[in-house]
Amino acid sequence: SAGRDLKGKRVLITAGKTIEIIDPVRYITNRSTGKMGYALAQIASERGAEVTLISGPTNLLPPIDVNFIAVKTTAEMAEQVKRYFEKMDIVIMAAAVADYRVEKPATQKIKKNSPNLELKLVKNIDILKSLGQLKTKQFLVGFAAETQNLLENATKKMREKNVDLLVANDVSRQDIGFGSDQNEVTFLRPENKPLLIRKNSKKEIAVQLFDCIDSMERR
Ligand code: PMT
Repeated sequence: SAGRDLKGKRVLITAGKTIEIIDPVRYITNRSTGKMGYALAQIASERGAEVTLISGPTNLLPPIDVNFIAVKTTAEMAEQVKRYFEKMDIVIMAAAVADYRVEKPATQKIKKNSPNLELKLVKNIDILKSLGQLKTKQFLVGFAAETQNLLENATKKMREKNVDLLVANDVSRQDIGFGSDQNEVTFLRPENKPLLIRKNSKKEIAVQLFDCIDSMERR
């Protein structure tokens, strides 16, 4: 790795899951633990960056020396990301963002009076896609969590979301992805061949990602 090559850079990282409220005691979410995003924040900070970490609920302690912002829902994450985006040099969306929210969360606990309960879900804003449209100088990194056709689906996301680098993550495997301390990913870039990053700790994957960003920014 490259010492303090990120000194003077502002890096925004999202991590963990977002939650969507059903009623005062229930919510919808996913299996993200925040490990991947927090590893990225720690490595960026060690390499000298000024790091802002916007995180959904996790059981992790944020790395020291990062500007930590806790959020719960996708709307809250979107609001905070947009607040910081313009000033950033590198933005990495590692969070597992809920694609849908409950249209009308109940204000009181829902009673179990009927055999069926229908929840109407409506689509959330795609934060990364909106950043892809807004970006000027920012180096924008997305993740793609896929359970099938990994590279095909991830390549589609890279193009649709206008990112500079997309980290394709096979989340059908139990030994990597959600919750694991290890990951194996493929870096996709618009102008280069896919780059497989073999199974390693999430911290080492983070090192490889910042090395790759550094090499792309030097060209
Ligand atoms: O947290 P861990 O337990 O360590 O697990 C790590 C991880 C599997 C969560 C991580 O490596 C990962 O793959 N993160 C992306 C999860 C995800 O939401 O992927 P997606 O393919 O649904 O979304 C594609 C990209 O768009 C992501 O960068 C996501 O942050 C972003 N997105 C998605 C939906 C949405 N409404 N807004 C977004 O910005």
